Amino acid sequence: MKTHTHIVGWGKSVPQRVLTNDDLARMVDTSDGWIRTRTGVAERRIVADGETTFSMALQAAQQALEVAGLKPSQLDLIIVATVTPDYAFPATACLLQDALGATHAAAFDLSAGCTGFVYGLSVAANLISAGVYENALVIGAETLSRITDWSDRATCVLFGDGAGAVVLQANGADGGVLSTVLGADGSGGDLLYLPAGGSKQPASHRTVAEGLHYLKMRGREVFRFAVRTMPAATRQVLEQAGLEVSDLNLLIPHQANQRIIAASARALKLPPEAVFSNLERYGNTSAASIPIALCEAVEEGRIQRDDLVVCVGFGAGLTWGAAAIRWSAPLPPVPPSHWEKAWYQLRYRYAGLCSLVRRFLRWLFALGVKE
Ligand code: ACO
Repeated sequence: MKTHTHIVGWGKSVPQRVLTNDDLARMVDTSDGWIRTRTGVAERRIVADGETTFSMALQAAQQALEVAGLKPSQLDLIIVATVTPDYAFPATACLLQDALGATHAAAFDLSAGCTGFVYGLSVAANLISAGVYENALVIGAETLSRITDWSDRATCVLFGDGAGAVVLQANGADGGVLSTVLGADGSGGDLLYLPAGGSKQPASHRTVAEGLHYLKMRGREVFRFAVRTMPAATRQVLEQAGLEVSDLNLLIPHQANQRIIAASARALKLPPEAVFSNLERYGNTSAASIPIALCEAVEEGRIQRDDLVVCVGFGAGLTWGAAAIRWSAPLPPVPPSHWEKAWYQLRYRYAGLCSLVRRFLRWLFALGVKE
């Protein structure tokens, strides 16, 4: 029997703090009118001190596991798609593995810009369908506010912070992730990049003084690339699944710019109700944008069982990707009971305790080695 990969859990986390266009207009030479008409963004969420990509990813992951009714120890794989990990290394996925107590999971981060979540979904779904793994957690999480130049009006109005997660599971039933397509064109790498902090230009007084630790973008070129790529990737992923655009119930595009979303919908001849957008409230949250949108589409009843959904993204790299999904999870999900929630919390505390014990034992063994 062929193994299929199904989405069985989903969750999201966005910071409490809201930064409106009017707030931005007090920081740089811009206006609510310009930002709304040129991008479609009205407000975005920004992390508080102490919040990071990991902390948001953890909340989104915990929600997704609860919806799936899965124990962290049942996870075989954790992928965190991000361009703003807590550290260059260790991977944010490893921090999560430890905090969740996912003791049997392999864990790694994946860098594919805003397409990262679709890349992660594709890698995990293919590993599951090949019979390598049974349960995987795929997360898109970003703290773009920490690499944004808040004095550059051309970029600071676009981005926001957040995280979204899905749990994928092997199952013999038809449906789930039907097909995925991924692509890259590295010749466009300099259209959207973070110049310093890597091995080419390690962080130094000079790189900081020159603002090279902030993301740089040639917006117009990225815009043209996006408008060309998203409809093409959507058609390709549907064709690969033996389906057509007319079969599609909901398109979940990367939330970068309402004009890009509208142009893609026009090119695909999709009515507005077949295209999901929450960009107005969150801005572009990079790899987190598609999983956050997927969660909200489910919460708002925009996805029903057996619906055909396509997630499509583009981003730094340049990269692009799409996933066609036949929604198979029962809706609305049965919320975990009070006791189940308490049980999950207990497990996370136990995972924290186990982590401390492992650290202590490592310290103890190190002492022994010295002697
Ligand atoms: N407020 C007011 N004016 C502005 C602002 C602002 N915030 N930003 C730019 N302008 C001005 C420019 O200076 C320019 O003025 P000029 O004509 O006097 O030179 C004018 O507005 C037009 O600038 P453009 O850059 O041509 O504006 P455009 O309509 O292309 O919109 C934007 C810019 C919003 C950045 C658009 O190009 C875009 O959305 N591009 C795609 C970006 C994207 O999707 N990036 C994410 C990639 S995914 C990832 O991996 C993170």
